[in-house]
Amino acid sequence: MSQEFKPVSYSVTTITELMIPSYANFGGKIHGGILLSLMDKVAYACAAKHSNSYCVTVSIDTVDFLQPVEVGDLVSLHASINYVGKTSLVIGIKVVAENVKTGASKHTNTSYFTMVAKDEANNLKTVPGLILETREDVRRYLEAIKRKELKKEYKEQLDNRKTNLSIEAELHKLKTERCIIDKNLNFRSNI
Ligand SMILES: CC(C)(COP(=O)(O)OP(=O)(O)OC[C@H]1O[C@@H](n2cnc3c(N)ncnc32)[C@H](O)[C@@H]1OP(=O)(O)O)[C@@H](O)C(=O)NCCC(=O)NCCS
Repeated sequence: MSQEFKPVSYSVTTITELMIPSYANFGGKIHGGILLSLMDKVAYACAAKHSNSYCVTVSIDTVDFLQPVEVGDLVSLHASINYVGKTSLVIGIKVVAENVKTGASKHTNTSYFTMVAKDEANNLKTVPGLILETREDVRRYLEAIKRKELKKEYKEQLDNRKTNLSIEAELHKLKTERCIIDKNLNFRSNI
């Protein structure tokens, strides 16, 4: 692995963008896709700066839109490297929307983007290590390790479930759900 290390502060990145009317959905609020695109952009900028290379998004850890963003809001996306692996980096992104008239700001979401660095030949590239400068940096790094462990466990459980799932044995679970099975589907055991 590369012996180079860079501090978290070296690649801290913020993008601020005004939410213009063309970003709105039919309900007059900002499209979730616009925010996702901005999050991908700030994650890329942060990862590219830390790794000095072209990066691609591999995975996004939960995007929950906690509050709507309005046209006219100033949205700031704060990104920093939370964790580095060999070729991957986890970038934590905090999104804050500010009403410019009142000055009120709201935290609309926090997400974690995993990116990998690529070299000129498009091969995976080892990224520099991370110097944790503050207690917050250490906390974020440890949380990222925990998320990685939980994600692995979750994936294993889902894969295991896919292999062992017996639809007939679990049909009773649909009793309380708001769905009905088309009568042309012939299950051996029905609800
Ligand atoms: C990212 C990609 C190269 C990984 O390929 P792979 O064969 O799984 O490679 P590896 O197993 O060596 O994984 C490379 C790194 O990515 C990480 N990784 C792979 N899949 C991951 C996932 N689902 N979530 C988080 N990290 C992941 C691995 O942990 C590894 O990290 P490390 O080097 O720090 O240990 C491949 O999936 C890819 O090219 N995806 C498309 C990316 C892209 O084009 N994104 C743009 C959006 S369309």
